Amino acid sequence: MDRIEGVLKEERVFYPSEEFRSKAHIKSEEEYQRLYEESLKDPEGFWGRVASELHWFEPWQKVLEGDLPHAKWFVGGKTNLSYNALDRHVKTWRRNKAALVWEGEPGEERVLTYHDLWREVQKFANVLKRLGVKKGDRVTIYLPMIPEAAIAMLACTRIGAIHSVVFGGFSSGALAERIRDAEAKVLITADGGYRRGQVVPLKQNADEALKEVSTVEHVVVVRRTGEEVPWTPGRDHWWHELMEAVSDRAEAEPMEAEEPLFILYTSGSTGKPKGVLHTLGGYMTYVYLTTKLVFDLKDEDVYWCTADVGWITGHSYVVYGPLLNGATTVMYEGAPNWPEPDRFWQIVDKYGVNILYTAPTAIRAFMKWGEGWPLKHRLDSLRLLGTVGEPINPEAWLWYYQVIGKGRCPIVDTWWQTETGGIMITTLPGVHPMKPGHAGKPFFGVRPEILDSEHRPVENPDEGGHLCITRPWPSMLRTVWGDPDRFLQQYFSQHPGSYFTGDGARRDKEGYYLILGRVDDVLNVAGHRLGTMEIESALVSHPAVAEAAVVGRPDPLKGEAIVAFVTLKEGYAPSEALRDELKAHVAKVIGPIARPDEVRFTEALPKTRSGKIMRRLLRQIAAGEKEIKGDTSTLEDHRVVERLKEGA
Ligand code: PRX
Repeated sequence: MDRIEGVLKEERVFYPSEEFRSKAHIKSEEEYQRLYEESLKDPEGFWGRVASELHWFEPWQKVLEGDLPHAKWFVGGKTNLSYNALDRHVKTWRRNKAALVWEGEPGEERVLTYHDLWREVQKFANVLKRLGVKKGDRVTIYLPMIPEAAIAMLACTRIGAIHSVVFGGFSSGALAERIRDAEAKVLITADGGYRRGQVVPLKQNADEALKEVSTVEHVVVVRRTGEEVPWTPGRDHWWHELMEAVSDRAEAEPMEAEEPLFILYTSGSTGKPKGVLHTLGGYMTYVYLTTKLVFDLKDEDVYWCTADVGWITGHSYVVYGPLLNGATTVMYEGAPNWPEPDRFWQIVDKYGVNILYTAPTAIRAFMKWGEGWPLKHRLDSLRLLGTVGEPINPEAWLWYYQVIGKGRCPIVDTWWQTETGGIMITTLPGVHPMKPGHAGKPFFGVRPEILDSEHRPVENPDEGGHLCITRPWPSMLRTVWGDPDRFLQQYFSQHPGSYFTGDGARRDKEGYYLILGRVDDVLNVAGHRLGTMEIESALVSHPAVAEAAVVGRPDPLKGEAIVAFVTLKEGYAPSEALRDELKAHVAKVIGPIARPDEVRFTEALPKTRSGKIMRRLLRQIAAGEKEIKGDTSTLEDHRVVERLKEGA
């Protein structure tokens, strides 16, 4: 476990204020302990009680059946996520409450009440039905951050179609791969989206992708930018035209709790993204409760999670969790620094945001831009802050706490994954003291364990190991779409009987978890998860490249930067122009988020005698370490390392 290290100097502990604590849903360590113990001793009682706060068309016969890796939740129960997120509230005073507050990058505003959103979702559910979408069919959503993204997701879940949202920053090739794998019947996209004042040509990318796939029968296009777009009559339809022709009533389909809800692709340690499959009942129940308790969400709150709906954070904590709780959720389309680096703070003041949930990478960028920008704004509506996606360095934590939260707002550092569906490790804001850089304690029903390479629990405080989860939890992934073997191999083979997260972690004597980052070949670049193999395959698809190895290098702003070591084919010579071309090539094949920060040409890669690339060495070389640590006895040719270091 050579990557399990990490030095953390910050020892200070911060306490939530008495004012915050006295009003919080969960108010004391004793209450947390009592509920936590109950949730492990009697998961059926605990989760049954939570789930009964939601609507079920038919009650479940059994809350939990089976164990890892194949547990089932709420067996026999019938429910619907769209019903619980909308109809349930429309029947109450919340009918006229703002559900979705949206701001476009150029500055437009749209507010949809629960009643408005309910109508739009029903109309779009009817549109999907008209296009022949049936329960179980896959629908790919490739949209900017506009209300139609949430409407399309909720309409799919309303009729039992399985959505697969693809981040709008992915290229046509990445989109095609995801459509092909899910065999989607319908694609929902827009003419374009705005990012830093530029138009992202989504429809054009979609058309490129569709040249490579055959399953898509219909494309629905939202008019967002008004640009001219290529059009295929018969296949392509304008969203607004379809919406004019349908009724605004579509009953929510009662669905089995274990029926598929959505697929979301994420990177793993092979070249092919995995379609993580979540199912209805457990996901809904878990996301409902975590949103309520981790964000201490109240009816009067305005809540803003800045994630894109293309990622799991956008699914669980922009759309589903807040709406299940009847909250007002803010959605912003564009970049944090457009037109100026205070756009986020402007939005906070303008809508009176009370709860803000964002990524460490964004916080580090704000730090770089200087505190003058946030100081221009009041920010006095904020009462709780959150972070997600990567470890937060104590310096950034303290800046967030002081400059944004004015020392008044607790911070929740939430650890979880696409696969876990919802937040797994965090402090509870009214209960737990905060230790900068530590995610905190397990959420209810979550049983983490730190295992060593012999699968033994690491008992010593502060000793690193593999972070595993040893009990089933409601929102865990059920499989990898179309590849049940990969599901078992990827998550359950390393430490038999436990779910292996891919992260290293340690636990201190108070039971706080500190996440050390990935121990597999997955990078975390600016909070985006990327597989090294995906980037390597993109590189070798360029005619000049013979072989490529990609590793991460610690980066003060992005967490990790992408460094590619490349050997060239006969007839090609290293040059600045080729370096730029390879970077651009990767951005084109996968998307701009995967563009390497550095490309290093080399004559050979360090390999073991059996031909395996020794990434551990490359990571050290990329980080500029003078002395290569660890075992190099299996290295086939020692001169390779010396040459690589010289080339640095
Ligand atoms: O390495 C962990 C890191 O992000 C990975 C999961 O990435 P993804 O599936 O894209 O989901 C991100 C949003 C939930 C994890 O394996 N990670 C996530 N949250 C934290 C974190 N690392 C440290 N601290 C966190 N709070």
